[in-house]
Amino acid sequence: MKLKTWLASVLLLTVAMLTATLGAFVGVNIGTDVSDLPSASNIVDILQANQITHVRLYDANAHLLQALSNTSIEVIVGVTNEEVLRIGESPSAAATWINKNVVAYVPSTNITGIAVGSEVLSTIPNVAPVLVPAMNSLHKALVAANLNFRVKVSTPQSMDIIPKPFPPSTATFNSSWNSTIYQLLQFLKNTNSSYMLNAYPYYGYTKGDGIFPIEYALFRPLPSVKQIVDPNTLFHYNSMFDAMVDATYYSIEALNFNNIPIVVTETGWPSFGGANEPDATEENAELYINNMIQRVMNDSGPPSQPNIAINTYIYELFNEDKRNGPVSEKNWGIFYTNGSTVYPLSFGASDQITGNSSGVFCVAKDGADTDKLQSGLSWACGQGGANCAAIQPGQPCYLPNNVKSHASYAYNDYYQRKHSSGGTCDFDGTATITTKDPSKSI
Ligand SMILES: *[C@@H]1O[C@H](CO)[C@@H](O)[C@H](O)[C@H]1NC(C)=O
Ligand SMILES: *[C@@H]1O[C@H](CO)[C@@H](O)[C@H](O)[C@H]1NC(C)=O
Ligand SMILES: *[C@@H]1O[C@H](CO)[C@@H](O)[C@H](O)[C@H]1NC(C)=O
Ligand SMILES: *[C@@H]1O[C@H](CO)[C@@H](O)[C@H](O)[C@H]1NC(C)=O
Ligand SMILES: *[C@@H]1O[C@H](CO)[C@@H](O)[C@H](O)[C@H]1NC(C)=O
Ligand SMILES: *[C@@H]1O[C@H](CO)[C@@H](O)[C@H](O)[C@H]1NC(C)=O
Ligand SMILES: *[C@@H]1O[C@H](CO)[C@@H](O)[C@H](O)[C@H]1NC(C)=O
Ligand SMILES: *[C@@H]1O[C@H](CO)[C@@H](O)[C@H](O)[C@H]1NC(C)=O
Repeated sequence: MKLKTWLASVLLLTVAMLTATLGAFVGVNIGTDVSDLPSASNIVDILQANQITHVRLYDANAHLLQALSNTSIEVIVGVTNEEVLRIGESPSAAATWINKNVVAYVPSTNITGIAVGSEVLSTIPNVAPVLVPAMNSLHKALVAANLNFRVKVSTPQSMDIIPKPFPPSTATFNSSWNSTIYQLLQFLKNTNSSYMLNAYPYYGYTKGDGIFPIEYALFRPLPSVKQIVDPNTLFHYNSMFDAMVDATYYSIEALNFNNIPIVVTETGWPSFGGANEPDATEENAELYINNMIQRVMNDSGPPSQPNIAINTYIYELFNEDKRNGPVSEKNWGIFYTNGSTVYPLSFGASDQITGNSSGVFCVAKDGADTDKLQSGLSWACGQGGANCAAIQPGQPCYLPNNVKSHASYAYNDYYQRKHSSGGTCDFDGTATITTKDPSKSI
């Protein structure tokens, strides 16, 4: 390689690394319609074990808000659709809501956003007239609490309010919503808040009647004969995700607003569906989520706004088996409740590969019989094939020097090596699965 080219690429790499440190994030939505929902502190363990830095809640669940305190995980709390009407009609209800669900938790819990309702315009259009008034009252209550610079108010909207999202350059909001959306954009602009978008290529693809290839929905390379190009701008769209975000930027621009960033508050792909939902498969979900993370973490924006990164929240943490609707509706989760991933998953940077079941550890049970622990320890380090070098005298994990800590180390080493080939976390009843990283608790 010529020196000049080499220098140029070093420079490029350095620039890329710099922007990456300030860069985009991928967070996760936490829906709780789950029959065996883990405790709030176990949920937080799963988030931390997987270096998840941003979450959105659909309500203001007190247990979760408490458990998220002192973690530095950034939190968007939700005003439920049921609450929007009352808050929209009563500023004092808004103030009460803020005091109870935000003021009571900050700064320990890093609440940085409030999502007012969920897809209000498309799901409860009768409430639309009070949506922006509700947001205004919540914002005023934040001002009164001197939290308006820390906590931003917005409202997630569905792509359904943009009737023709392709080509992006000609997309506009459904004009029956002009006045509501105008007020909304004015509010977002005045408060330096983002437009919250729920963007689902899964639905764009499955409802598209074969107009778009599945590769386009899954961020896969498109054959040269199937390039997706906006005829007006000549922008090439590598993914439907980018096209949806751009359609929203153009719709905002059509109402003469600019510089309102978009955050994708929901996107995902179901890993399982009913007989009439052939695209809801583990393979597709794995491709979609991993490719989406790669896409977002490259820090670029969509073609029309290349410098505005697309911060994104995955829908969703767990499969919500208690939700109504088609089978796929219960299968959007990326984790099982025991902390294993539903499919191999890698969050962003390559040093944060989470593999297919990290976040789960095998450790000695509290109060287990010492003799049994000793036998389990000997077995794990012997026949079991665990690497017990680190717990030998003078080695990093020798201290604390007791049977229980050494057994925990050996059990977990054995389990991480062997469980994919059938090794269990039992050791004569002295071992248990946990989502707490034992190396951090000793
Ligand atoms: C968070 O940290 C603060 C200050 O250290 C402490 O007072 C508080 O109890 C902690 N909260 C939780 C839930 O651990
Ligand atoms: C909370 O999140 C904000 C925004 O990312 C960050 O600047 C701040 O350091 C976080 N606060 C804590 C206590 O972690
Ligand atoms: C626009 O919204 C109105 C009110 O919800 C609805 O009746 C109409 O069908 C929508 N138009 C399009 C093109 O989707
Ligand atoms: C809605 O806004 C668009 C873009 O400004 C405009 O073209 C359209 O005429 C408006 N529709 C109504 C019903 O006001
Ligand atoms: C919005 O941002 C501008 C420029 O950064 C700043 O001057 C203004 O105070 C901010 N307003 C609010 C409500 O955050
Ligand atoms: C980032 O993603 C965009 C959209 O897919 C793509 O056009 C661009 O080339 C990517 N940039 C890098 C550095 O990979
Ligand atoms: C976690 O639960 C899933 C689904 O029930 C199961 O397939 C998986 O084996 C479990 N993982 C562990 C480590 O127990
Ligand atoms: C899970 O991880 C193990 C160990 O890294 C690996 O051997 C196995 O192939 C992985 N399973 C899947 C489904 O990727």
